[in-house]
Amino acid sequence: MTNTKSLFETVTLGNITLDNRIGVAPMARISASFEGVATEQMVSYYTSFARGGFGLIITEGMYTDDKYSQGYFNKPGLIDEEQTQAWKKVVDSVHQAGAKMFAQIMHAGALSQGNRFVQETIGPSAVQPKGKQMEAYIGKGLYPTPREATKEEITEVINGFVNTAKRAKTAGFDGVEIHGANGYILDQFLTDYTNKRSDEYGGSTENRVRLLVEVSKAVREAVGQDFTIGIRISQGKVNDYNHKWKGKERDAEIIFGQLGRAGLDFIHVTEYEAWQPAFPTDESTSAANSALDNGGASLAALAKKYGGVSVIANGHLEDPVKAREIVEKEEADLITLGKGALANHDWVNRVKKGEPLVEFDQEKVLSPDAKIKDFEV
Ligand SMILES: Cc1cc2nc3c(=O)[nH]c(=O)nc-3n(C[C@H](O)[C@H](O)[C@H](O)COP(=O)(O)O)c2cc1C
Repeated sequence: MTNTKSLFETVTLGNITLDNRIGVAPMARISASFEGVATEQMVSYYTSFARGGFGLIITEGMYTDDKYSQGYFNKPGLIDEEQTQAWKKVVDSVHQAGAKMFAQIMHAGALSQGNRFVQETIGPSAVQPKGKQMEAYIGKGLYPTPREATKEEITEVINGFVNTAKRAKTAGFDGVEIHGANGYILDQFLTDYTNKRSDEYGGSTENRVRLLVEVSKAVREAVGQDFTIGIRISQGKVNDYNHKWKGKERDAEIIFGQLGRAGLDFIHVTEYEAWQPAFPTDESTSAANSALDNGGASLAALAKKYGGVSVIANGHLEDPVKAREIVEKEEADLITLGKGALANHDWVNRVKKGEPLVEFDQEKVLSPDAKIKDFEV
């Protein structure tokens, strides 16, 4: 390992400095109370990653309003005082164990499969989502066709992200990540086949990225300059793993270029990988080696090239050699691990000491559902 840009060096993201360049990726675990309040089990679960050496922990996606944002039952939210105070306990404990923590804020849109506030779903257009609801998140059957969001509802979506980001600051988080990836509402706006709008939010790539840019700018304005904010972007989706942007590198230039000028400190790129038994695993979709349809550069490298802000890379990087390479090649400033972290809450400490890593066992961790298991805390 060379000494420069190695995984174990500090890195600055916005106004915070991380002890190393390895983070835990956001992972939904449906272990909050029905009212969306974080539990003691979640305090222990998140703290265990901090004790295991991770410099940054990004929370599971949390919902942003009491309307259409909640994606699954027992998902945590960050929209009221009780939820905010419960997250404060998690954040305080993670800080005491030495890591920084970002809140991932998420609106599920048409992919909502469990919402305690409403039954109906909204999306950019009335297009039924591909695929089936996720059983690990207690979903069943097809997704319903969403109702096309009105302009007022789009404003409510933006306000939800803004209010939740402000609450994240109050709860003591070190930053927020806006969930713009994996097929949820912001990605539904970005995606040509789910967004059939004829107004300024639909049509060209510039128009389809507009809501992501507006949310980013509104969040920046609300939290001020001294709070780290970023956005997560992917091509693939939980219900369409292999989706690629039709405009290829030109799309990457527009999407990352616009987001790079929206006041964000970082862009977190991921290529979603199949991890559920119901779907085949496609090893080719990782941030490290997956690119646009035309091959070539990784999504992380394109985010770096056109975004001009810090880049976090994610997707099948649990092999330390791969993780180190992407950082040393300067395609990303840091990496995050999903399944690798679930299998090794102490991945960082193990790699530092040269100890062997445990293989991710889906049956053990995510069956019969995605709830946090007792052995994980
Ligand atoms: C159990 C589980 C839950 C996930 N939930 C989220 C989520 O809430 N938000 C998100 O952006 N990605 C979510 N993901 C995707 C991961 O953040 C990550 O992108 C994916 O697992 C690929 O990275 P990996 O190869 O390191 O696992 C989830 C993944 C898993 C395995």
